[in-house]
Amino acid sequence: MAKGTETELEHLPDSELKSLLLPDLLPRHIAIIMDGNGRWAAQRGLPRMAGHTEGIKSVRDMINLCRELGIKALTIYAFSQENWKRPAAEINALMMLLESYLQMELEALIEKETRFRAIGRVSTLPESALAWVRKVERETAHFDRLNLTVALSYGGRSEIVDAVRRLAEDARNGTITPDQIDEDMLEGYLSTHGLPDPDLLIRTSGETRISNFLLWQLAYTEMYFTPTLWPDFRRHDALLALHDYQRRERRFGQTCDQLSDHPDEKVGKRSA
Ligand code: IPE
Ligand code: IPE
Ligand code: MG
Repeated sequence: MAKGTETELEHLPDSELKSLLLPDLLPRHIAIIMDGNGRWAAQRGLPRMAGHTEGIKSVRDMINLCRELGIKALTIYAFSQENWKRPAAEINALMMLLESYLQMELEALIEKETRFRAIGRVSTLPESALAWVRKVERETAHFDRLNLTVALSYGGRSEIVDAVRRLAEDARNGTITPDQIDEDMLEGYLSTHGLPDPDLLIRTSGETRISNFLLWQLAYTEMYFTPTLWPDFRRHDALLALHDYQRRERRFGQTCDQLSDHPDEKVGKRSA
């Protein structure tokens, strides 16, 4: 298990924090609820969009760090189904920001051999934003160094409903029989199919809820909640989150004695 309390670690430089991480115990997949952009802007007397724009720098930090550490999957919650209830002006500005982020970032994603994929009911996005989503997906489809999944117009319950609907169709047309349906099969119908479940979920801004994110996939994920607002959550904060994760004992329902009997089944080393 990793050493050092959070207060001891937070004064260390990033290079040292990075070198103290135990490579075998890194998460394979990190999921993030990027929250607090509006409050970050309000604290500075700025319009909410300033917070969303600044938050892009935190996204870049996370992508770079995952790549450097060899973490293969990063899934970020950028726009929820419930976010459609926000004022039209904010929604429009967010969609424009998404589009300009994709235009701006395409080259960097290619250079970093990062595969971009969107999950969620993306067909509800404005046409020009959707066209950029599809373009960046296409042009990065052959990379697998880092899998960047962006949840857009995403809701965990609708994802499960969509999966069940397709299962039901396949049962009706005879491709599968109802008694064949098990957890693995249902997982295969989810939009995150092919990715391991997240090992670590980070939510910024002090809220301690899931807000309809990855409801199925988070069944055994370690949760990290921090009061830091998303635009302030940078490399240093991410390194501290990883140290916190490495101090956890993941039991998956077993007792701690069983884990010490079978060291291979310890933290972060899942049999799958
Ligand atoms: C998260 O920041 C980004 C989105 C939900 C699009 P918020 O916009 O929710 O920021 P707060 O929670 O109002 O501070
Ligand atoms: C969750 O943040 C959605 C995203 C980060 C995209 P919200 O700010 O929308 O969540 P609630 O409404 O506080 O639960
Ligand atoms: Mg919020």
